[in-house]
Amino acid sequence: MRTPLMAGNWKMNKTVDEAVAMVNELKDLVADAEDVDVAICAPAVDLYAMNEVVGDTNIDLGAQNMYYKESGAYTAELSPSMIKSVGCKYAIIGHSERREIFGETDELLNLKLKTAFANDIVPILCIGEKLSEREAGTHFDRVKFQLAANLSGVEADDVKNMVLAYEPLWAIGTGKTATPEQAEEIIKFIRETVEEMYDADTAEAVRIQYGGSVKPHNVKEIMAQPNIDGALVGGASLEAESFSKIVKFK
Ligand code: 13P
Repeated sequence: MRTPLMAGNWKMNKTVDEAVAMVNELKDLVADAEDVDVAICAPAVDLYAMNEVVGDTNIDLGAQNMYYKESGAYTAELSPSMIKSVGCKYAIIGHSERREIFGETDELLNLKLKTAFANDIVPILCIGEKLSEREAGTHFDRVKFQLAANLSGVEADDVKNMVLAYEPLWAIGTGKTATPEQAEEIIKFIRETVEEMYDADTAEAVRIQYGGSVKPHNVKEIMAQPNIDGALVGGASLEAESFSKIVKFK
């Protein structure tokens, strides 16, 4: 049985003080959450102080990005050991904002993924189509292409432990959620594609989240879908009360 992962992606929000205040509030609200993993992927500058707060709570931390080199002349980048040193278990790799605004390529993301695995960081790999692709009916091809390119050369054992996040670009920050049926249809397809690329055990093990305007009011029906193993949450993860409702969706 796959344990759902509810992960907040704070994007470029919250100063250190704001971040600490929110996790202090959140830790009490989610302390009794059962059968669910909880993570916050925070801005890099917030992580050190947040790590002091989350300590032995059930909240894990994640970075929003990571470079594929260990050290060197890569101004402004973060290495795997740097993010681990501030308590990160997870790293988001290939968020659509990194792909679209910052030009991250599938080849680069493949290198980042392999580096995450080599350093025992659990990557949350984001894939998903644009509105024009959804309208043209090419969204299945799009996610299949991304899986093939991003997972090239990645071993089945690593895929079993990673997280995939299906985030259609047209549903991010728009208040427009994919219907639970639309999300289930493509996430099931993603799982079938993993089975084609690897095997049934790998497809059964990998956790696949939905992301895109997940809110307290729609999380339950999204989570009722058999192939959806959690959510990657932007806007609604910025406030402790609303994120705790998503964590405790049952
Ligand atoms: P919203 O929940 O704000 O739509 O953001 C989704 C997202 O991009 C999470 O990574």
